Amino acid sequence: MSLVTLKEILAGTRENHYAVGAFNFSCPEDAEGIIMAGVEKQAPVILMVSMNALKYNGLKATIGMIKGMAEAVDIPVCLHLDHATDYDLIKECIREGFTSVMIDASKKPYEENIADTKMIVEYAKEYGCSVEAELGMLGGREENVVVEDSSAAMTNPEDVPRFVEETGIDALAVAIGTAHGFYKAEPKLDFERLEKITKLTDCPLVLHGGTGVPEADFRRCVQMGMSKINYGTAIKSVFVGAVAAVAAEEAAKEPGKQDPRNLLRPAKKAVAEHVGEKIDIYGSTGKANKN
Ligand code: 13P
Repeated sequence: MSLVTLKEILAGTRENHYAVGAFNFSCPEDAEGIIMAGVEKQAPVILMVSMNALKYNGLKATIGMIKGMAEAVDIPVCLHLDHATDYDLIKECIREGFTSVMIDASKKPYEENIADTKMIVEYAKEYGCSVEAELGMLGGREENVVVEDSSAAMTNPEDVPRFVEETGIDALAVAIGTAHGFYKAEPKLDFERLEKITKLTDCPLVLHGGTGVPEADFRRCVQMGMSKINYGTAIKSVFVGAVAAVAAEEAAKEPGKQDPRNLLRPAKKAVAEHVGEKIDIYGSTGKANKN
């Protein structure tokens, strides 16, 4: 299938009590692992690339690669730029064929966050690209975005309606107690805050910082109306762990018999299995052909 927008892929999620998994990829192999999981589960998937991963893979190569992978399968796939703070880069991604971008102006004051987000939404509209923005701020590290715990701030529900209305965004990332990266202590999610927010807006909501969130918390968020769940750091560990498990054996082979694919094939498979488990928890298994 052709790449679909975030707006399309999230349509019906809240009413039907499931969330679409948005998974960060670093290279072609983990991207393919994520798509393999979507195919296996017949689930829609969002492939997310950070600004760093985009630099690593190259902008045009990233689009060509994910577009090609999506066209080879029968599930909806959305290509999303994650946590972008560079507005020129966001615009370039929109022009070149991304079907979704996240403008992260969450560190800026409320009024500036609205103005900047609105500017990107208006730009994206011309190209049929969706836009996600964030209110509040998650702690932790997501690639190049680092927020000290002391600066992390939960989303104020009262800020939500005007933000959604004035910006015209397609999805809103909310801070309700998760953080990016692995947790030092089990996260404590603020479900009351989430409930207030869901009552104040119909805009699809996004949970960031999926790594390390207990299964029961994911399920509760989804039941309460979360539409997109971002999940990244653990995928890197799964990938590296799978490569490490076979690396010494491969390295010990005669040079003529060594093959990088012997390292990457198991890594791809391990990512697919791990992502598949999350897809089941988010409730999006079997939701590929909802229309
Ligand atoms: P984790 O890396 O904590 O899973 O968070 C991913 C994320 O929120 C990407 O935006």
